[in-house]
Amino acid sequence: MKYSTFALTVLSTVLAPLGVTGISRLGGVNTAGYDFSVSTSGDYSGTPSTPPSSQYAHFEGEGANLFRIPFAWQLMTPTLGGTINSTFFNEYDATVQAALNSGSNVYVIVDLHNYARWNGDIIGQGGPTNAQFASIWTQLADQYGSNDQIIFGIMNEPHDLNVTEWVATVQYVVNEIRNAGATNYLLLPGSSYSSAETFPTEAGPYLVDVTDPLGGTDYLLFDVHKYLDSDNSGTHATCVTNNTEVLETLVTFLQNNGNRQAILSETGGGETSSCETYLGEELAYVKSAYPNLVGFSVWAAGAFDTSYVLSVTPYSNGTDQPLWIDAVEPYLP
Ligand SMILES: *[C@@H]1O[C@H](CO)[C@@H](O)[C@H](O)[C@H]1NC(C)=O
Ligand SMILES: *[C@@H]1O[C@H](CO)[C@@H](O)[C@H](O)[C@H]1NC(C)=O
Ligand SMILES: *[C@@H]1O[C@H](CO)[C@@H](O)[C@H](O)[C@H]1NC(C)=O
Ligand SMILES: *[C@@H]1O[C@H](CO)[C@@H](O)[C@H](O)[C@H]1NC(C)=O
Repeated sequence: MKYSTFALTVLSTVLAPLGVTGISRLGGVNTAGYDFSVSTSGDYSGTPSTPPSSQYAHFEGEGANLFRIPFAWQLMTPTLGGTINSTFFNEYDATVQAALNSGSNVYVIVDLHNYARWNGDIIGQGGPTNAQFASIWTQLADQYGSNDQIIFGIMNEPHDLNVTEWVATVQYVVNEIRNAGATNYLLLPGSSYSSAETFPTEAGPYLVDVTDPLGGTDYLLFDVHKYLDSDNSGTHATCVTNNTEVLETLVTFLQNNGNRQAILSETGGGETSSCETYLGEELAYVKSAYPNLVGFSVWAAGAFDTSYVLSVTPYSNGTDQPLWIDAVEPYLP
């Protein structure tokens, strides 16, 4: 893989000054299940649910080209810093392959859904060492490192941690993934549950300094989340904002710091008229802000029941939920 690292370095050196971006506009959905039920403390005592593989062709047929597939760290490596459980990996990988095979230009985010924690303890801050954290990613790099349609979601929603130390952890894992030969796009996670709103003032000013051993920064995308309910928690059926101001501030920050790129990898709302309006307006803005905003993945389908408050899981008769039809589908790439 060293030759392709060299080729990519040459490519990004040539293209970066022109502001040309490699990755196409992305839009799609989270397919949850392997993350049921990781808590925000990084505790895990659940049982995995397999996202129905039929959903990938369903959504791809409507124009989706991005699927984020979360999983619990403890399922992939039952021992902290230990080897991948090949039985679980084979199940997870079958889902990843179903998503990739649903269309010719589909991207998958492999999402480590652990809030920067293992069983309550923070990575690099008294909990898992940076090397233990990097270990799962170098093993996944061995599996997925030559497929550029697979994006590495390094960590879901870090929160309540020391940001400068966290960004040092992010740099450590980026270096280890590249040392393992992987050339994939990497999603760099900030703080405050990957908040798009706090990114420009909290983690963003540090994350823009993370370097890529491949050269350039085209393969380092920032990972941001934003909900539309009153407390930005994504737990209420009603929406109170279209987030345009927050996202405009983020885009200005990205443009002023090297013309960088971010993905809104979680957003969503309930089956209400307020969310149909505001989510549609938000995703229209995201689509218009490409390439600084690469795209979005809505939370969530997969193994969620259609009755879950933020569900966009299709009904058993194959029909989509109104929120998907009215507020998401029109803004797919
Ligand atoms: C490995 O994964 C399989 C399938 O999910 C599971 O049944 C088994 O208990 C796991 N092994 C360990 C040690 O957790
Ligand atoms: C975060 O960690 C850095 C480096 O160890 C330290 O200098 C700084 O004081 C810490 N910040 C807070 C708010 O504790
Ligand atoms: C979002 O809401 C604001 C305030 O109501 C409005 O001015 C703006 O046009 C909306 N954005 C979009 C993309 O519709
Ligand atoms: C499919 O099921 C949903 C939920 O029960 C229902 O609202 C919708 O009308 C059904 N559509 C068709 C075409 O049967």
